[in-house]
Amino acid sequence: MSQLTSFLLVLSLCAFAPLCFSSKTKGGNLYPQFYDHSCPKAQEIVRSVLAKAVAKEARMAASILRLRFHDCFVQGCDASLLLDSSGISCADLLAIAARESTVLRGGPSWEVLLGRRDSRTASLSGSNNNIPAPNNTFPTILTKFKRQGLDIVDLVALSGSHTIGNARCTSFRQRLYNQSGNGQPDYTLDQSYAAQLKTRCPKSGGDQNLFFLDYVSPTKFDNNYYKNILASKGLLNSDQVLLTKNEGSRELVQGERLERTAGRLTLDSTT
Ligand code: HEM
Repeated sequence: MSQLTSFLLVLSLCAFAPLCFSSKTKGGNLYPQFYDHSCPKAQEIVRSVLAKAVAKEARMAASILRLRFHDCFVQGCDASLLLDSSGISCADLLAIAARESTVLRGGPSWEVLLGRRDSRTASLSGSNNNIPAPNNTFPTILTKFKRQGLDIVDLVALSGSHTIGNARCTSFRQRLYNQSGNGQPDYTLDQSYAAQLKTRCPKSGGDQNLFFLDYVSPTKFDNNYYKNILASKGLLNSDQVLLTKNEGSRELVQGERLERTAGRLTLDSTT
């Protein structure tokens, strides 16, 4: 399933918006009860639409969660990544949908603050510059998190979202064949795991072949993501460097607990 499919799901959730989103935000404060009067069933509607979509296509939960991350890293959590030519957006829907996606995969729940102002603009340069890439160095990734007001604890906790979902061969191929430009693989990746990955992620071709980010429990929101990293089986370079490139993040990976991911997944402190 593509990002486009998740995008379309959120747009279909947005179809409910005109029924419910007529009231204006007073001031910039966000609070969970924002729709209690104007649309008391808002959260229920999102939950049921999402549950149907995930039942049809399990990966949907992961893709929605990722959309939320990308949204928050560009201009704040304002649904700017959902803008299309007709200007539809729905920041609160995406915030609720990301929480529900986590819950549906057996992960924790949290209270979502509501009443966000949707963006009227998108930013290509913001998305190119702010969203971390899997081959970014550890300092670059941390810098990109800090730019959002997030710290090293947030980085390790939020990366735990890679406990669900998939990555394409093209997102980690470099690690298998040519990690640093000298034709050598990434030796921080377990070599028997690397051999398995190579069978469907050849040196060239197969770019779109999909792999579980957490091969142990790919559709369950649990802490195998961290255990995999400790076993040198983090799929993306950006996963494994949390253990290998920084003392502080290493200690966090070693002691990471699921609740911490839950606490940080709100991503809402600044919006
Ligand atoms: C730390 C920096 C991060 C990097 C470099 C990164 C990079 C990536 C990459 C390359 C993929 C696979 C994309 C593909 O091959 O098509 C991916 C998937 C995913 N990411 Fe991240 N990510 C990061 C942090 C996060 C955060 C903070 C979240 C959520 C809060 C997140 C949630 C996800 C999810 C759920 C998927 C699976 C999506 C699907 O199956 O459709 N990631 N990420």
